[in-house]
Amino acid sequence: MKISFSKPEIPEGTAVVVGVYDDRKLTPTASQLDKQTKGAIGRALAASRFKGRPDDLLTVLAPAGVDATRIVLVGLGKPGALDALGIQAIGGRLVANLANSGESAVAVVVDDGADQKLATAEQAAQLAYGARLRAYRFDKYRTTEKPEAKPSLKKFTVMSSDPNAAKKAFDPMLKISEGVFVTRDLVSEPSNVIYPETLAQEAQKLTELGVKVEVLGEKKMRELGMGALLGVGQGSERESQLVIMQWEGAPDAKNKAPVAFIGKGVTFDTGGISIKPAAGMEEMKWDMAGAGAVIGAMHALAARKAKANVVGIAGLVENMPSGTAQRPGDVVKSMSGQTIEVINTDAEGRLVLADALWYCRDRFKPQAMIDLATLTGAIMVSLGREHAGLFSNNDALSERLLAAGKAVQEPLWRMPMGDAYDKLINSDIADMKNIGNRYGGSITAAQFLHRFVKDTPWAHLDIAGMAWTEKDSPVVPKGASGYGVRLLDRFVADNYEEK
Ligand code: BES
Ligand code: MN
Ligand code: ZN
Repeated sequence: MKISFSKPEIPEGTAVVVGVYDDRKLTPTASQLDKQTKGAIGRALAASRFKGRPDDLLTVLAPAGVDATRIVLVGLGKPGALDALGIQAIGGRLVANLANSGESAVAVVVDDGADQKLATAEQAAQLAYGARLRAYRFDKYRTTEKPEAKPSLKKFTVMSSDPNAAKKAFDPMLKISEGVFVTRDLVSEPSNVIYPETLAQEAQKLTELGVKVEVLGEKKMRELGMGALLGVGQGSERESQLVIMQWEGAPDAKNKAPVAFIGKGVTFDTGGISIKPAAGMEEMKWDMAGAGAVIGAMHALAARKAKANVVGIAGLVENMPSGTAQRPGDVVKSMSGQTIEVINTDAEGRLVLADALWYCRDRFKPQAMIDLATLTGAIMVSLGREHAGLFSNNDALSERLLAAGKAVQEPLWRMPMGDAYDKLINSDIADMKNIGNRYGGSITAAQFLHRFVKDTPWAHLDIAGMAWTEKDSPVVPKGASGYGVRLLDRFVADNYEEK
């Protein structure tokens, strides 16, 4: 779907979208169309339950008196009430409504409302951003889909009094949406296509955007002493990889230390010898969504030339049961020197992150480290699929992440940590074990990670409930959500970029 911006005019031969405020108060363009159609809009409103609330949508098909194929009325709520997220949601809903409608083009008229919160150009850009995010589709493996089942909508035009300003405002959003799509693609791919080496190759494509990318194989990781990460991958035919991405967008920054993002990249999680039940195991192809989000975020930041220094690290392994797999009870030595008794080989993400976090801290001395991981099923028991879990040793960092999550509607909820939980992972034969008891499983997982970050300001985002969605929402079609990309981008923009 191609998105463009132009000056307001009633389009000919395509669908047109106009706004209606709460209580059916027509925007200027809606009222102009109502006159041209001899009151078709008013009659349609009277015959429906459309009130003008932000999720109301009403279609008037083939109206007489104008050349448009249909008029779509979209609710705007109370004048001036819509914020950026509200406008994005409208863009997304319009795409959902029109994608398979048979229309190939639509023009949306954003009326100049001096009473709106956002400047007109900003409104137009946000609407286009929401439309673009919703228009994503992963259909490369559908070879027999009939043309009439494919989306018909090819052209989405947003009309606004200053199209150049709208286009300019949209440009970084377009780059961020590319990053979101990179993540959605990687997370959607099956595990016979995306495994550690191929995922590392995908990350290497970031060099085209000016990101420095290094890939460490097993030999190098063994030299570094990464026994925790390597133990997880040792049952797999696929070689484990560690990807290091560096974006230096602020070479002259006063504080040279980068902010670092670390992702869990288990390209398939069978559970290993502590094998998972068969039902639903296919979902574990997306156990690399943390790494996927880090790669997508690096894409977004580099593509929009963010003025910040950011490091991305992805720990990539496949967790398989085999004759060479690690056993429950094995003791491994992490790069930090700390030893770990592996009670359950299905608690593997924390083992991967232990070495990735330590490596990051040791090499880059970052100002802050944020890890993203589909770490525990328990986080879904706690928070459902509406918030990712936030665990942190730093209140200021937590506040910044909570704010970023709120701003982009990738919400976080802070969870508790503390010594009482930390004790639960003490082992009788090693420095720690990789699981706690039956309760608070997401928290003991976070305590485990905490032992590998020491006092570096750190946050852990448990995204197990957020990486994949079973239902459509305004700007996220069902499937891989790309969760984390917009959040990390916003976190960098608000806190680390020199304005
Ligand atoms: N990748 C899973 C967590 C997960 C579960 C993510 C469901 C998304 C959906 C993780 O590696 C895992 O298996 N965790 C175990 C930990 C347990 C063995 C302590 C879990 O949550 O059951
Ligand atoms: Mn697991
Ligand atoms: Zn896992």
